Amino acid sequence: MVIAHNKKKKYNHNKKEEENNNNQERLGTNPRAERERSSPCEGRDNPRNGRELDSPRSDTVDKNTAASGKTVDSPRSEKAGSAASDKMDDLVESLKSKKGLSTLDDDFVRDKIERIFASNNIIKRKFHSSASFKQFSKSQEHEELQKRIRKELRAIYGVFQTDESDRMKLLTRLRTTHDDTERREIVDGLLGTHTSTKERLPHYDEIYSVLCEKISPETVVDLGCGMNPLAHHYFAQHNCWPTILASDISADDMKFLDECFAALSIPGKTVALDLTKDDDIAKLPALTKDADVTLLFKLLDSLEEAKRHISYKLFDNIKSKWIVASFPTKSLGGKKNIARAGRSWFERLLARKGLAWETFSVENELFYVIKK
Ligand SMILES: C[S@@+](CC[C@H](N)C(=O)[O-])C[C@H]1O[C@@H](n2cnc3c(N)ncnc32)[C@H](O)[C@@H]1O
Repeated sequence: MVIAHNKKKKYNHNKKEEENNNNQERLGTNPRAERERSSPCEGRDNPRNGRELDSPRSDTVDKNTAASGKTVDSPRSEKAGSAASDKMDDLVESLKSKKGLSTLDDDFVRDKIERIFASNNIIKRKFHSSASFKQFSKSQEHEELQKRIRKELRAIYGVFQTDESDRMKLLTRLRTTHDDTERREIVDGLLGTHTSTKERLPHYDEIYSVLCEKISPETVVDLGCGMNPLAHHYFAQHNCWPTILASDISADDMKFLDECFAALSIPGKTVALDLTKDDDIAKLPALTKDADVTLLFKLLDSLEEAKRHISYKLFDNIKSKWIVASFPTKSLGGKKNIARAGRSWFERLLARKGLAWETFSVENELFYVIKK
C-alpha cells in the first residue's frame, strides 16, 4: 500500500495556481479551463459530448399535462393521454428487460429517456407520433434510442451487476445458516455480486485498517454504495462498529440491502437517491451532518459522466467530518491502466474547495482521504 500526503507547500502553490485559473476562467482566457470544459472526467468517454441538457423537464410537463387530461376535457384527448403514458410505460419496461437493468427504478429510466428526447427532436417526434409502442419499436429511431440509453444505463449501473437471482439465493441461505464460517462465505458471495466489491475483496482488510486508524468512524454514510455496506465485518476486524446509512439509485437494491442488514445484524438503514438530481442532493446536508465519514467509492466517474461538474455540488452538500473517495486505477476487466494524472480534475476540485487530503492505493483502486 502506498500512502502519500499532499504537502502544504504544494497545496499553497495549487491554491495560487487555482486562483489564477479562476481569474483567467472568469475572463475567459484560460486555455486549460477551456480544455476542462470539454473534458471534465479525463480518461472516460463523455457520451453527452459536452452538451448541456439541464432542462429536459419542459417536455415532461407537456406530456404529463396531456397525459393527465388537465388542460383538455374531451374524452378523446384523455384517451390520447393515457395511450401516451402506456406507450412510455412499455418503452421503460422494454429497456429494463436487459440483463442487469431490471432493478432500476422506472422513474430513473424515464428521466434518461426524457433527456434523450430533449437532445434529439427526431427521436422525440417519432415517439410521440407513433400510435403505439409496438409501432415505435419498429422504427430506426427506437433502435437509436435503445442503443443510447442501454449504453448509458449499463455504464452507470448495469455493468457493475451480476445475476440478481444469485443475490436472492444467497440471502435465503444467510437467513437459515447459523454457522459463522458459512455466513462469512455467503457475505463474500454477496460482495461478489457487484463488480466493485468483488475486485476489492482481497483488499478490504488493508483499506478498512487505514480508515479505522485515521477516522475510527462511528457513523458512516455510503453513497452510490453498491454492495459495499455488506463489508461491515471488515470494520469490526479493526475495532470499529459503525452505524451505516447506505444509498444508491435503485429502491429495489436498497430494500435488498435492508434485508441483508437485518440478517447480519448490521446497524444500518438505506435511502434511494439519484445523486444527479438537485432534489436528492438537497437531502445530503441533513443525512451527512452527524456522520464521521461519507464514502464515495468509485462513484464520481459515473456521476460526472451523467452530469458534468456535479462533484462540486456534492462536496458542497456533504457535511460529514471526512470524505473518502476512490477511483479505479484499471478499467473494468483490468485491461487498461488509468493514470493518476487522469484524476487531476478531482485534485483541482479539492484545491478549489481548500480541502486537505492524503492518498493511499491498493492494487486496482486509489483512495483520497479528505478532511472537511
Ligand atoms: C462503480 S459502482 C461503485 C459501487 C460502490 N461504491 C463500490 O465501490 O463498491 C458505482 C455505483 O454508483 C451508482 N450510481 C451511478 N449513478 C448514480 C446516481 N445518479 N445516483 C446514485 N448512485 C449512482 C451505481 O448504481 C453503482 O452502484
